[in-house]
Amino acid sequence: MPQSPLFHDVVRDRHSVRRFLPTPVSDAVIRRVVEDAQHAPSNCNTQPWQVHIVSGGARDTLSQALLAADEAGRWTPDFSFATADFHGIYSERSRAQGAAYYQAIGVSRDAFDERRTASLFNLEFFGAPHVALLFMPAFGDSVRVAGDIGMYAQTFLLSLTAHGLGGIPQTMLGFYAETIRESLGIDPSLKMLFGISFGYPDESSDANSYRIGKAPLEESVTFHWQ
Ligand SMILES: Cc1cc2nc3c(=O)[nH]c(=O)nc-3n(C[C@H](O)[C@H](O)[C@H](O)COP(=O)(O)O)c2cc1C
Repeated sequence: MPQSPLFHDVVRDRHSVRRFLPTPVSDAVIRRVVEDAQHAPSNCNTQPWQVHIVSGGARDTLSQALLAADEAGRWTPDFSFATADFHGIYSERSRAQGAAYYQAIGVSRDAFDERRTASLFNLEFFGAPHVALLFMPAFGDSVRVAGDIGMYAQTFLLSLTAHGLGGIPQTMLGFYAETIRESLGIDPSLKMLFGISFGYPDESSDANSYRIGKAPLEESVTFHWQ
């Protein structure tokens, strides 16, 4: 069966965007993206995503709250995360991704302050005018729910690409889950996995000048025929 050329291109065109134009996306287009994402599959069709889309003044206020929380050392992640937990090939890929990004934006390996500034740009949503914050109820050990959120997020990201937009999933936003819940009045029973900043990519930015490679299939897929 021939593959849809549109799908082939959208999947390959999607990439993480880390510098956006300030131009807002219209409400109608944002609505189309969330309508697409709503078709994501989930365990037992539970559709556990609770998505908060933050724009305009609320976006600016949230960014200030995140920067203040970081300044105060107020890290409140709902789920653990440490790149030190990666091992072997996963650690190598993680390091290669970091190196490619910092090289693209002209920050050297030992420029600690510049690296920190670049990292904090996460909390300004990389200049994006919108951010979608992905919350979920906690069931059991939350692993299955987190998988559902991943399904939602990729559908959301592909829809952004199909609409000529870009996005960046951000675990780093989840490090400030409590601050985000307080700022937006979100029920404490909802846990935050990550956010997606989105908008029109700034194609002229060095931050968007590179594409990270993907592993050859043999490293990920084993075919069992008989
Ligand atoms: C769940 C998730 C969380 C991520 N969190 C961050 C983040 O906090 N900051 C960041 O700059 N990139 C983040 N990324 C982007 C990854 O670095 C990126 O997806 C990866 O390097 C592959 O590049 P690509 O998206 O261009 O294919 C995240 C990606 C995923 C899927």
